[in-house]
Amino acid sequence: MAGNTRTETLLAQAGHYLDKETGAVVPSIQPSTTFARDEQGELYDKDRIYARDKSVNAEMAEAVLCELEAGASCKLFASGMAAATALVQTLRPGNRLVAPSVMYWSLRAWLISFCADWNIELAFYDPSDEADMDRVVKAQATDMLWVETPANPTWQVVDIKRAADLAHGVGAQLVVDSTVATPLLTRPIELGADYVFHSATKYINGHSDVVAGALITAKEDDRWAKACAIRAQHGGILGPFESWLLLRGMRTMHVRVERACENALAFAQHFEGYPGVSEVIYPGLSSHPQHEIAVRQMQGGFGGMLSIRFDGGVERTAQIIGRLKHFLRATSLGGVESLVEHRALIEGPDSPVPDDLLRFSMGIEHVGDLIQDLEQAIKAE
Ligand SMILES: Cc1ncc(COP(=O)(O)O)c(C=O)c1O
Repeated sequence: MAGNTRTETLLAQAGHYLDKETGAVVPSIQPSTTFARDEQGELYDKDRIYARDKSVNAEMAEAVLCELEAGASCKLFASGMAAATALVQTLRPGNRLVAPSVMYWSLRAWLISFCADWNIELAFYDPSDEADMDRVVKAQATDMLWVETPANPTWQVVDIKRAADLAHGVGAQLVVDSTVATPLLTRPIELGADYVFHSATKYINGHSDVVAGALITAKEDDRWAKACAIRAQHGGILGPFESWLLLRGMRTMHVRVERACENALAFAQHFEGYPGVSEVIYPGLSSHPQHEIAVRQMQGGFGGMLSIRFDGGVERTAQIIGRLKHFLRATSLGGVESLVEHRALIEGPDSPVPDDLLRFSMGIEHVGDLIQDLEQAIKAE
């Protein structure tokens, strides 16, 4: 890319893609699983042997994501969970992992069972309390600190720079799950993170039609080499068609994320203090406990995710979600269509999420329709 290319240009042009042979402005899909050698036994391309290790289409999307996050290298995985678990599997028995008490639920559940099976000490900190994070990280020798910001589904915001200083001060490495912040609103590596993780299923793809994960590293260290080997050996690579779709989705990420942020802010402001609403949780509201950190750390918006708590407990909340007409009642987030979920009911009896809370993933529709939808659902009683 030309020097100082801005993010929007990088994305819209998919890294200034142009097929020199045909002039095509859109890449083709390369589905070959294997790559041949010539008469002398030399590979036509010395870096390409077999598609479980690397893929032409994945590499195109990886290059764009790597540049966006200002990383040294990026790898795409078959899902967010495949990416996150590959990084955690680089820990050895006896190591210590410190993770937030509020984080993506399935990853939390996997960490608890994996760490118990492999004798890795797992300790949790409260992501809304910096002193608690300090205390837990310093309590014993820590190898990896995991941060998710904003944290799903109650949107605590963690100061990444502070977390990086804390981790590095005790010889640990910092991983940031930046799925909700997207590579556009926060750049964790510039703030000191060692690794950035995304469920690319969400905003990076943006169309609810690809499951994918991404890891980006600040430097190509031993842990990175191990995570890459785990991808190749466990076969967690993203397929060519999904990689192609992901790159296609990324071309509009800046426009989608901007609109989702605008919609989320307008929606949050409209319903804060609304009759029957007890709390609106959104990092862009000045009432949010870590709003000042969000202002410092998130550029260009506060994300498309928010949660609302309702008066009247679980029964009334279940009635409200049942009456919504534009919001689709579905899990996941970050697509162009707005989604809503009653997280506590989905997560089950062990869920730490209040049962009067609905999680909203704001899409790119007209926000007036979305506001009217929740208004009619609240008023129809
Ligand atoms: C914040 C966060 N991290 C990780 C994941 C897991 O990603 P995937 O579903 O792509 O495996 C999700 C999925 O919902 C998520 O929301």
